[in-house]
Parts: sequence; structure tokens; C-alpha cells
Amino acid sequence: MSDSRDRRAPSKAWGGRFTKAAAAELERFSASIHFDRRLYREDLQGSLAHARMLERQGILTEPEARELERGLHAIDREFSEGTFVIDPSAEDIHMNIERRLFELVGDVAGKLHSGRSRNDQVATDFVLWMRQGIRNVRAALLELRSALLERAELEVDVVLPGYTHLQRAQPVRLAHHWLAHFEALLRDDGRLRDAHNRMDRCPLGSGALAGSTLPLDRDSTARELGFAGPTRNSLDSVGARDLALELLSALSILAVHLSRICEELVLWNSSEFGFIEMDDAFATGSSLMPQKKNPDVAELIRGKSGRVVGNLVSLLMTLKGLTLAYNRDLQEDKEPVFDSVDTVQSSLEILAPTIRTLSVRRDRMAQAAADPLLIATDLAEHLVLQGVPFRTAHHVVGDIVGHAARSGRGLDSLTREELLGFHPCLDLNPAQFFSVERSLEAREAQGSPARKNVERALVTARRANENVAQELAALEVPTGPADEAHSPD
Ligand code: ARG
Repeated sequence: MSDSRDRRAPSKAWGGRFTKAAAAELERFSASIHFDRRLYREDLQGSLAHARMLERQGILTEPEARELERGLHAIDREFSEGTFVIDPSAEDIHMNIERRLFELVGDVAGKLHSGRSRNDQVATDFVLWMRQGIRNVRAALLELRSALLERAELEVDVVLPGYTHLQRAQPVRLAHHWLAHFEALLRDDGRLRDAHNRMDRCPLGSGALAGSTLPLDRDSTARELGFAGPTRNSLDSVGARDLALELLSALSILAVHLSRICEELVLWNSSEFGFIEMDDAFATGSSLMPQKKNPDVAELIRGKSGRVVGNLVSLLMTLKGLTLAYNRDLQEDKEPVFDSVDTVQSSLEILAPTIRTLSVRRDRMAQAAADPLLIATDLAEHLVLQGVPFRTAHHVVGDIVGHAARSGRGLDSLTREELLGFHPCLDLNPAQFFSVERSLEAREAQGSPARKNVERALVTARRANENVAQELAALEVPTGPADEAHSPD
């Protein structure tokens, strides 16, 4: 173990107030560079905007600003070429970049931090990162919704039982089932969009907590970084993390939706259900049992939803006792967000092709939906149409179901006369009435799975996806040095 009371000169960053270097343990404990290096692009982007603003405000001369820009661009190149050398003793990404800037441009580097603190700097970097993260997740989510929509378009005529309590309940079209998941995922998109919309204020220029006495032009840096304007309160700017919580909440709900879809895929893929078969490319084998083909993708996505929800709870707990404004606890905000964005993004990226390539066993689904008992409710509704109160109708049909069960027959093989014996309004042909096709076609109420409705829903869903695609294209950030779209390192 190294000597904790390192006799090096005091760290340049902490300056004259300190007479000793930081203990090695403290450096190790407090460092965040191993994860916040992912903010390098946003940090450089923010620094460039800040330098140019300082120049416009006469705080930097033109040659000074050009020197800083040159250094920042050089650092950007080093990062993209993989030659930037991380100094683990330089605590975080902001100090690492500043240290390198000193090496590249000399003492003028010391002017960049005018009117800026790491507190507003990190808040700005983080929100920029989250905005890009949201755009990436929304694009991957759009892909998954497209996969569901493609399946739905192909599977309007595939019938399966809809379930309540995991008991076969009433027949539905498979397209209707895929579109049900589509709806939930479209709301997820809306939640992500909301979170992104709220991230439209730039914290830069809020300083450590109380702004600055320098004549900063916060409007211009905000605009240059793609925000609608600056944040309104300096304490809030550096002390709040609810935007991260909002993103983690939206991602948690989305992850839970993915988990539910995956649970269904696991069930449907079992020999007990036998409704679907995973494509070989998206299934795994057993190292022991040669006959096995396992739905690991779905199980892993289901499993990973746990850590996404955990990340939300983790940041909620980190924040709950904090006074205004910045406290070092806030450094704990990044890992949960990085992890949730990565986890959800990779889950979406694998689930889309898994769903696209699976094969549906129509025969098995049809067989499971064929039981006329699934249409018993229709019979009660038939009575309602003749003016019978629903509760009475429910009772009558219950009697009929009991009678059929006792005589060991299906509802469809009862005779017209038997039905009339239960109620005078039941003058119908049971074999015709208890057909799945008839039942489905009769389901014309809005949101029900009659073909007409499902076809209309497909058009609406396609339009919704097109709208999101257009919106995402418009949100594309202009690329250029130090501000091209980031990819996780
Ligand atoms: N690495 C720090 C974080 O992520 C940067 C801000 C440091 N500010 C401070 N006052 N120590 O929160």
C-alpha cells in the first residue's frame, strides 16, 4: 500500500489554502474519473461555448479564446483517437481535461474557469449527456415498436386466447396483442419526450451556487448548447437532480414493460404453451441437455429490469436528505443513469430482432382459442341486446355452462331447443354463434379486436411511429468537433 501522507506539492487544483497533498486513500475514494470520463464530449462542448462567451463579454481576449479553442479541439481529437491519457489522480473528467489543457496551451488554461465552477459544469455536462441518451433510447424504442407493428400487420388473422389471471378468457387477434404492447411502449416514448423537454434549461453560469459577479451572457451559452435558455435559479441549477430521477423513472417503467413482454415470450416459448419458437440466432442451448433451446434473451431482459428499478431507488435515496445546494453526494448521480441508459438501450436493441425473427405457431394458438367457453360472455351480451339485464343474463349463461359441463359437451354442440329451454330470447344456432370468427367480428366497440378496428389501429400506430421518427430526426444535434453524437465508450 502506498504512503497515505504523500509529500508531493499540494494539488494545483486546490491551491494555496492547502498545505498538504490529499491522502492517497482520499484520492482513490473520491475519484469519479473511471465513470465520468464518459462526459468528455459534453465537457468539451460546454467549455468551448463558455470560452467563446467569455470572449464576447470581453473577459478573454480574442487570442486567448483561440488558444483555448485550439487546446480543447486537440483534446477532443486525443479522445477520439484514444490517445488521451487519463490521470487517475486528477479526480474527475473536468480536472483531467483542465490539466491537459494546461499542458497544451499553458497558463491561459487557467482563464477558462472564470465564472464557472465544477458544480455548474457537471450539471451542464450531465444534462447534455442525458438529452443525447434519451434520443438514443427513443430511437431504439422506435425500432422495437416497428418490430411489433410489423408482426401485427402480418398477424391480423392469427387468433389466440386473451388471458385474465393467466386463464384463457376471450379470443383476440394476435395483432391486437402486439398492439397492446405497442401502446404501452408509445406511452414510454411520451415519458422520455417529456423528460427531454424539461431538460431545456442550461445550468452553465450558475457557478458554485450563487452565480457570478462577472458579466456572463448565459443566454448565449445556453443557445449554443442547444437549450431554450438558462436555468432560473443558481442554487437549484447546481443542487437539483430531479431531471435524472425523471429519466430513471421513465426508464424503470419502460424496463418493467420490457420485462412483462419477456415474461410472456418465455411462457409462450415453453412446451406447455408452445405458441412461439425463438429463432436459433436469438436462443441459446444448454451446456448439459442437448435437446434444450432456451429463451435467454427474454430472461436476461426480464432480469435486467431489476437493476434499472434499483438505479432509480438508489438515486432517490441519495437525494432524499440533501440540503441545497451542491453536496458531494451528487457525484453518485451518474453511475445509475449511465447504467440504466445502457441497460435499457441494449435490451431494446436485442428485443427488436428477437421479436422480428420468432415464429408463431398459429395452429397452437388457434387450438387454445377454440374452446367455445371463451365465447360464453357473448351469449350473455346477446341477451342484453334483447333487453335482459346483464346480471340476469350472466346467471342464465352460468346455468347453460353448468349444463353443458355436466353433459360433457361443448357449448357449440348444444341444440337450439336446449338453449331456448334456458331463456326464450336464445333463439339461435349454437354452432354458428360459438364460432371464434363471429365473436371477433362482433367486437366492434372502440379498442376491441374486430378486424376493422385492428386495421384502423395499425394505421394509427404506423402514423405514430412516423411522427416519432420525424421528431427524432429534427432533434439530431449538429455534428462537429467536440459535439458529435456520443456513443457509450
Ligand atoms: N466530480 C464531481 C461530481 O460529479 C464534480 C463536481 C465537484 N464539485 C465539488 N464541489 N467538489 O459531482
